[in-house]
Amino acid sequence: MPTAREGVHERLHHRYSAGTLPSPASLRGFQTAMSTLPEPKVAVATTPANRSPGSPPTIAPDIVARDRPAVPADAPTSPAADDDALQPARRPIKTTVNCYEFFERVFPQCGFLDLTEGIYRGDPTVPYAQAQQNQINWLLDQVGCGPGSRILDIGCGNGTLVEAAVRRGATAIGITISPAQVRRCRQRGLDVRLIDYRDLGDVWRGRFDGVIANGSIEHFVQPEDVLAGRDDAVYRQLFAICRHVLKPGTQGRMATTVIHRHEGTPRIRNEDLLKSPWRFRWGSPEFHYALLQRGFGGFYPEPGQLARCAGPYFDLVLEVDGTQDYHFTSEQWMTEALDKLLSWKSGTRILPRLLAYALRHPRHAATMLTCLFVAESWQRQFRGENPPTRLLRHVWQAKP
Ligand SMILES: C[S@@+](CC[C@H](N)C(=O)[O-])C[C@H]1O[C@@H](n2cnc3c(N)ncnc32)[C@H](O)[C@@H]1O
Repeated sequence: MPTAREGVHERLHHRYSAGTLPSPASLRGFQTAMSTLPEPKVAVATTPANRSPGSPPTIAPDIVARDRPAVPADAPTSPAADDDALQPARRPIKTTVNCYEFFERVFPQCGFLDLTEGIYRGDPTVPYAQAQQNQINWLLDQVGCGPGSRILDIGCGNGTLVEAAVRRGATAIGITISPAQVRRCRQRGLDVRLIDYRDLGDVWRGRFDGVIANGSIEHFVQPEDVLAGRDDAVYRQLFAICRHVLKPGTQGRMATTVIHRHEGTPRIRNEDLLKSPWRFRWGSPEFHYALLQRGFGGFYPEPGQLARCAGPYFDLVLEVDGTQDYHFTSEQWMTEALDKLLSWKSGTRILPRLLAYALRHPRHAATMLTCLFVAESWQRQFRGENPPTRLLRHVWQAKP
């Protein structure tokens, strides 16, 4: 008798073999869009309203670790430039915090702690856990993680990579802007801090041999940044910060996985970038993309944009296309999550948690449920022979 996950796996495999996953033609409209992400309505530990430019994020009292040397609250921000210009776009990170609050209510109950793709090497029958382990091993290998090394995971999610680095004998620190993730990581005994990467100030200088950002960079640029023409400045600042936390004089490495827009994909018109999904025709490319933006918060880079912005600080040493891996992972996540939601046993556990979230954030909950389970906007990004987005893994070497 197959387990629930094996059952989903078999069905997915059958759908691939039978060719019943959406065809490129059915996605052509969606491919004409890919560009943006709007805003939420929720207060979080880090809000621009209670922060002055350059000030550190407020740390929710219940997750401040008493037993750990805290990063000084008055730590200066990174020497990277453009800080004033970037300030207005800090507001939309509330969307991202809410998005992971939503996932926290559903994904762990479905057996998923991971929030990025695995590595399948073209074989969708690779078990989910193995694929995730492949990805983590690959990332840790790329930054030379081993006994005694110091690793920073920017956007560490639920801490699986941090835990794997510690198992290799490394000292690993994760940062995230999600209080729910910090709580979960600390329950797992991991050193994870509630810090926005932009607040990695001087006390973090030169402390690491390797930096990893696995699926977090998509959240760093906002549509407002794109409209203001400062997306390059945000990425440049990110690479400056990452160079600054690596040990000076060494050629430390950074590994990233980031969803990119497709080279051939026309952009959404500027005047449509911040519109609500409900202003667009149901199922249209603009509708799908606006749903993603309202749900997740962020904006995808173009191919080549990261390398251009990393230039002063890092050389690109490797680029790998992992789009198919994200396709396999996403289909498995959503198929299994839907199964769990609809099953009596697990549904009765998950639904009350979802309902509690929906009562606090009704619009965001409706957006996420529509995006993931009704319109399938998330999954559509990776479907078809020529998907509208591309997942690129990059390895960067710091310039001395
Ligand atoms: C898609 S999840 C990836 C999580 C994890 N790396 C994994 O693979 O499961 C994106 C992560 O980026 C974090 N994040 C988003 N914006 C951030 C920011 N400005 N500073 C630090 N972390 C951020 C989120 O809180 C979340 O942990």
